Amino acid sequence: MKILAIETSCDETGICVISKKDELLEVSGNALSSQIELHAKYGGVFPAMAKRAHAAKIIPLIIEALLQANLLAEELSSFGETYRTEIENLCTKETEMIEPLISFFNTYAKPDIAYIAVTIGPGLEPALWVGINTAKVLGKIWNIPIIPINHMEGHIITAALEKKNEQIYKINKLENTLSLLISGGHTELVLEETLLDYKKIGQTRDDAVGEAFDKVARMLDLAYPGGPKVSAYAQEFRDTHIKNPFTLPRPMMYSDDYDFSFSGIKTAALYLIRDLTNNKERELSHDEKIAIACAFEDAVIDVLKHKTKKAIEEYGVQNLIIGGGVAGNTRLRKLFTESFEPMGITLFFPEPWLATDNGIMIGVTAFYMVTAGKIKTSAPENLVADGNLSF
Ligand code: KG4
Ligand code: ZN
Repeated sequence: MKILAIETSCDETGICVISKKDELLEVSGNALSSQIELHAKYGGVFPAMAKRAHAAKIIPLIIEALLQANLLAEELSSFGETYRTEIENLCTKETEMIEPLISFFNTYAKPDIAYIAVTIGPGLEPALWVGINTAKVLGKIWNIPIIPINHMEGHIITAALEKKNEQIYKINKLENTLSLLISGGHTELVLEETLLDYKKIGQTRDDAVGEAFDKVARMLDLAYPGGPKVSAYAQEFRDTHIKNPFTLPRPMMYSDDYDFSFSGIKTAALYLIRDLTNNKERELSHDEKIAIACAFEDAVIDVLKHKTKKAIEEYGVQNLIIGGGVAGNTRLRKLFTESFEPMGITLFFPEPWLATDNGIMIGVTAFYMVTAGKIKTSAPENLVADGNLSF
C-alpha cells in the first residue's frame, strides 16, 4: 500500500510517498521546497506569494518524489490532452499549473498509488488550495481516493514516530496523551484520551509561539524565520554570561485555564529595546541582543512548561507529544525532558528534520488512519480548504 502526500499549508511545498513495509512505514520518496528565502526578504509569509511559489514547484516535486519511489514509468501519450477541460476547470485559480499538469499526464503512466493524502487546513487558504486542487486533478484523472488531512494532526503523529533508520519508521499508537503544538501559526494543548480522538483544551489568545519568536527576531535584526536564530543567540548568552540583566513577563502563566498569550512578552521586548536604544538613537550592542533573546526564550519556555505541567496533572496523561516547528528548539527539549521525565511521563519530540512542515507528516497521518481502520476519504468535489480547521 502506497500513499502520495501533499502539503502546501504555509511556506513549504512538501510531497512524499509512504509505503507499508511489514508493520512499519517507509518513506520511499520525499521532495521539499522551502520558500524561506522568498519570505525572508519581506520578514514574513504573504499568502499570494506563497501560493504562486507552491504552484510553480508542486508538479516538479511530485515527479521527483514519485521517481525516488520508483513509481513513474515514461509512457508518452495524449492522455493529458484528453483531460484538458477537466484540468482547466479544476485549476481556474492556478492557471500556471495547467500546462505542466497536461504535460505530466502526457509523459507518465499512472503510478501504483492507493491513496492521495492532502492537507486541507489549517493554514493559508490560497496556499492550501494549490495542494487541494492538485490532489483533485490527480485523484480524478487517476481514479484514486483522496484522504483529507488536518495539518496539526500531522504534527502530532510525526512527533511520535519511532525511527528505525532514515527511511523506516514505526508509528507509536498512543492513547492517554497530551500534545503541545507549537508552530508559526499555532500554540495549543490537545488531549487524546483514546486513539485518534482529539480534544483541544487550550490555545493562544493572540500570537503563536513561533510567530512571537519571528517578531522578536526581527527586533534583533535577525532574518525570517527567526526562531532558530533567536534560540542560537540565547544559547550564546548562556554560554558566555552568568546572570541576565533583563527579565520579560510571563503572561497568563497562572491563569485558571490552558490558554496562552505571547503578544505581551513580545511587546515587553519591544519596550525594553526602545528604552535601551533611547528610541532608536543608538543601536543595540551584540551583548544586549543575546541577553534579550535569552530573556525571551526563558519566558516563553517557562509559560509553556507551566501550562503543560498543569494539564498533565489535571488529566493524568502518560505521554507528552511536542509537535510543530518550535518543537525543534533545543532549550525547550532539554527543559521539558528534565521536568517531565522524572514525573514518569514519556516524551515524544519529532526528529529535528521533521519538526517543521513537510510532506511526510501528511503521508504518515494518512498511513496511520488507514492502518488503524479509521480512514476517511473524500470525493474530490467535497474537498475544501479550511484555513481555521481545528480539532
Ligand atoms: O510548523 P512550522 O514549520 O510551520 C507552521 O506550521 O507554522 O513552524 C515554523 C515556526 C517558525 O515560526 C519558526 O521560527 C519556528 O517554527 N521555529 C523555531 C525553531 N525552529 C523553527 N522556534 C524556536 N526555536 C527553534 N529552534
Ligand atoms: Zn506546521
